[in-house]
Amino acid sequence: MQPVKIGLLGFGTVGGGTVRVLARNAQEIARRAGRELRITTVFTRDPSKPRLYSVEGMRLVTDPWQVVEDPEVEVVAELIGGISPAKELILRAIELGKPVVTANKALIALHGNEIFARASQRGVMVAFEAAVAGGIPIIKVLREGLAGNRIEWVAGIINGTCNFILSAMREQGREFAEVLKEAQALGYAEADPSLDVEGIDAAHKLTILAAIAFGIPLKFASVYTEGITRITPEDIRYAEELGYRIKSLGIARRSGEGIELRVHPCLIPARRLLANVEGVMNAVVVKGDAVGPTLYYGPGAGAEPTASAVGADLVDVVRAMTADPENRVPHLAFQPDALSDLRVLPMGEVETAYYLHLRVADQPGVLADIARFLADHDISIEAVIQKEPKPSQQDVPLIFLTHKVRESALDAAAKKIESLPTVKAPVHRIRLETLE
Ligand code: HSE
Repeated sequence: MQPVKIGLLGFGTVGGGTVRVLARNAQEIARRAGRELRITTVFTRDPSKPRLYSVEGMRLVTDPWQVVEDPEVEVVAELIGGISPAKELILRAIELGKPVVTANKALIALHGNEIFARASQRGVMVAFEAAVAGGIPIIKVLREGLAGNRIEWVAGIINGTCNFILSAMREQGREFAEVLKEAQALGYAEADPSLDVEGIDAAHKLTILAAIAFGIPLKFASVYTEGITRITPEDIRYAEELGYRIKSLGIARRSGEGIELRVHPCLIPARRLLANVEGVMNAVVVKGDAVGPTLYYGPGAGAEPTASAVGADLVDVVRAMTADPENRVPHLAFQPDALSDLRVLPMGEVETAYYLHLRVADQPGVLADIARFLADHDISIEAVIQKEPKPSQQDVPLIFLTHKVRESALDAAAKKIESLPTVKAPVHRIRLETLE
């Protein structure tokens, strides 16, 4: 059989990793796909850049359209990232009937509905395993491995940079800004690190996971997103004293009235496996009604882990080239005409427990006043501790853990608490999930 000819858009970290992995594992991959996979055309802005691996037999071009339009190229792998021209290039590949493999999380989260609709019309596959959690095959798990389940919730550490920062803050007691600089120097963060630390990158990935888990369209604009920039080493220490770790989680959950889609820092019990995922590693817990909770762990980024996912997608699309479109696994797991547009709950309607960090005057009656406002809003306290004041400060930190409460009730109570003259700073709150 003739080799399948692949065009690569992008020869950076992931593109280079893909070239290396496909060359090193050529035989294994051919045994799986049933045909040899050969990269024939590669778009790179810098063709003369020295590479540590062979590019023999590959045509290096400096115009990405030359890859897509190359009549020899049968499959296009888009690894340049960004929205434009990646979107136009993918749509053109679809128009030409060429299957596409992409690692582009932002593009799928924002424009996936349109891309998949076009691909389905044209009977072309668009595969995107590398877009979420790097080397962890979580798309395959949700779309195929757990297809017999009703998925109840998904919760994941899906941004390695945030996890690296929170781990270093906990282990070394360092401040957020200092560790962020280190993460940038190590090359973990996105070119614009606010995408990581403000939760946007994780929201892209959560959008994709939720669509596949629940059979809903991609709804990036409905994801609630909160970053980790206001987490302090004190919060991490106090949480630890109470038996919790702080992690930035992406959570998608069915609730009675709709679904929750949210990315934010979160206290989770220290005994949970997810709480012990450290550094840049990623992990996703999926709770299915039949299987119960399942955990998937691995590297969420990096040249070869991401190439591992690209390689798996290439094998899939090559296998599917001979299958009728209606017999392929649907892009978003559920048949396109069976997607349901479930309501995404506004955060006011979401129920979680809370960690509250207050700075208050050290005088009689303060705790009673705060407890009364909480009680007025039906908020039950699970734990309270008063900490030593910092040497330079008069006021004392007061830490509460609450039971589950509607966010709108917590908002109302916090507003009243903040109006007390004895409360010296806005109520600093972090949601708490037991993941049970
Ligand atoms: N910046 C991302 C992260 C890279 O930190 O997880 C992988 O998407």
